[in-house]
Amino acid sequence: MDELTGFDELMDCRSSESKKAVEPCTIVIFGASGDLTVRKLIPALYHLHLEGALPDPFRIVGFARREKTHKSWREELKKGMKKFSRTGLDKERWAEFEEKVFYCRGDLSDAGAYDTLGKQLQGFGDEKLRNNLLFYLAISPSLFGTVVKQLHHAKLLDREEREGQWQRVVVEKPFGTDLPSAEQLNHELITYAHEKQIYRIDHYLGKETVQNILMFRFSNAIFERLWNRESIDHIQITVSESLGVGSRGGYYEESGAMRDMVQNHLLQILSLIAMEPPVSLEAEAIRDEKVKLLKSIRPIEPEDIPNQVVRGQYFAGQVNNEQRPGYRQEERVEPNSNTETFLAMKLFIDTWRWSGVPFFLRTGKNMPLSASEVRVQFKQTPHVLFATQRDGGNDPNAITLRLQPHQGIYLRFNGKVPGTSTQIRPVRMNFSYDSEFGAYTPEAYERLLLEAIAGDATLFIRRDEVETAWRIVDPIRAGWKGQSLTNREFYSAGTWGPVAAEELLSDSGHHWRNPQPAR
Ligand code: BG6
Repeated sequence: MDELTGFDELMDCRSSESKKAVEPCTIVIFGASGDLTVRKLIPALYHLHLEGALPDPFRIVGFARREKTHKSWREELKKGMKKFSRTGLDKERWAEFEEKVFYCRGDLSDAGAYDTLGKQLQGFGDEKLRNNLLFYLAISPSLFGTVVKQLHHAKLLDREEREGQWQRVVVEKPFGTDLPSAEQLNHELITYAHEKQIYRIDHYLGKETVQNILMFRFSNAIFERLWNRESIDHIQITVSESLGVGSRGGYYEESGAMRDMVQNHLLQILSLIAMEPPVSLEAEAIRDEKVKLLKSIRPIEPEDIPNQVVRGQYFAGQVNNEQRPGYRQEERVEPNSNTETFLAMKLFIDTWRWSGVPFFLRTGKNMPLSASEVRVQFKQTPHVLFATQRDGGNDPNAITLRLQPHQGIYLRFNGKVPGTSTQIRPVRMNFSYDSEFGAYTPEAYERLLLEAIAGDATLFIRRDEVETAWRIVDPIRAGWKGQSLTNREFYSAGTWGPVAAEELLSDSGHHWRNPQPAR
């Protein structure tokens, strides 16, 4: 094959490889009046339609309690599109799209409403539109059980596979609030749907750069050989957000950073960074390895918490010259709340590959900038040659995987400063997605919806994965019970977290490398 030389060829290569969902189907969205539907799901489906990636034909049915007509719902979605679509709205394409969008009014616990839904589906001419059904549950998890039960009784969700048809259920986080509640939720779902039919979303897995972690690791011999305790000193995973909790106080009081970010997004990134190579790229092979990795994280018992976990909460401060209230002053937050808006932890993975290598994870709200990155820091070379230079002269090499924004990867190594001296200093080699592939920034939901329609579960969380993740975080939360935050755990909005987070690393001679703004 000829070598690809230019951008056009790369774009061609990308589109010819891209996935297309071919089998006609209907996507039924429960929670049609909700925020997620208007902000994320409809814009994502519209963009998939623009790209010609949706099956032909397809239908979308929104199910919710409020009184609406097909027309009024379409109008509502159109308004939302103007605000939330990443490409604006093309009137003609939207008109074409909205013809396939319908509304079904009903109460989630009313059996009659599911009969109405069934009748509506029967009205779609194509047999596949009636039988290939993707149920998207954009509703409170406390209602997942009710909905799958009702769907099953209305004969819309069949646990047994039937030739030539499929039904799948997509669920959103939070998937439980601890292990027992997640097990209960799983039990409710698998009573009426087979595990293979359940697609649990972690939207981080829909991000192009998160998917690239596996490709980067396993398709590059030069890095793959170094990816172990022999070469790596430690790994840092940072997911910082410059926004505060804002109007989500009610939800956040119950979740905190541990449940909101660590149990899902951060542990997902960690498992991709550290897992063993899967035997194939099949969904089960990849998910098996991720679960194995999660299971090999050394448990943190309550007595380990002071040395391995730091929680924090922001007080009033400035982010990007904008004044922000303290967490305790946010709407629907208790004035003496101990909920963590920041979390840092040190983990060890007890495998042959990672023995003794610390993994430092941190996430927080109201930090100086929004960035997600993984920094893999290599060991120092012996200090023999450059010992007389600044800090021993020799900065450790590092690879940073920049997940968002300004997606890319950079490698830091040392170079000789030009001139007659033997001075060295760190330099960087930079790969940027945008300059290599053009600004291609599909929303995570586009990819995830397409995968669910196509029946590929690789980017979704399996039952044992979600339960194992709760097993990691539950003992830590239990250890915090009844313990108020101390002064060392507060941080000013607009900083990189509390002092205690620095000490978590400095105790072992490490320090956080903060994400840098784009240059
Ligand atoms: C969500 C959390 O899952 O992820 C939010 O509930 C958080 O609190 C969001 O802000 C971050 O996602 P992203 O894609 O903006 O990094």
